[in-house]
Amino acid sequence: MDWVVLICSVIFVIFMAAPLLGGAPYLPSRKAAIEKMMELAAVGRGVKFADLGSGDGRVLIEAAKRGADATGFEINPILVLVSRYRIRKEGLADRARVYFKSFWRADFYEYDVLTIFGITRIMPALEKKILNELKPDGRVVSFAFRFPHWPYARVEDGVFLYKNPKNFI
Ligand SMILES: C[S@@+](CC[C@H](N)C(=O)[O-])C[C@H]1O[C@@H](n2cnc3c(N)ncnc32)[C@H](O)[C@@H]1O
Repeated sequence: MDWVVLICSVIFVIFMAAPLLGGAPYLPSRKAAIEKMMELAAVGRGVKFADLGSGDGRVLIEAAKRGADATGFEINPILVLVSRYRIRKEGLADRARVYFKSFWRADFYEYDVLTIFGITRIMPALEKKILNELKPDGRVVSFAFRFPHWPYARVEDGVFLYKNPKNFI
């Protein structure tokens, strides 16, 4: 019984760590929202894609199924294991991967598309980081949460599309 309590406590702490480490708690995106993210960001063959806080991998798996080279950054080790298992099960290991790493310590320079399902509190710092590192033709889709200063290019069904403003200056 003590072991059950201990294991449950460890799992609870792991799932509660994300908000404390500068991110959103785990809440998976719905299928409709994922499809809207893919559509607005034009995810397809040849696109370099990253999900910032990739949860159980469902968003990056959908991107890889559409032909993208897909990466996830995730700080919850249980979700990292789950998403790696799902990637292998779907036969997508050649073009999808998940790093057990905070997206705050990742570089975004190589990606065409970034997706985020964050939380209001992190959006100002994330806006600054992404605007510094985004490719000239890079795009970002954010589910449910807006950046404070960066005007979005489109919004549909709670999914905000952002294009690099350097393109429009
Ligand atoms: C709201 S969930 C979204 C999961 C997935 N992107 C989806 O849409 O289904 C946010 C995820 O970000 C992870 N996370 C929070 N802070 C993070 C950080 N600093 N670096 C990497 N992942 C983080 C959480 O563990 C959680 O799995």
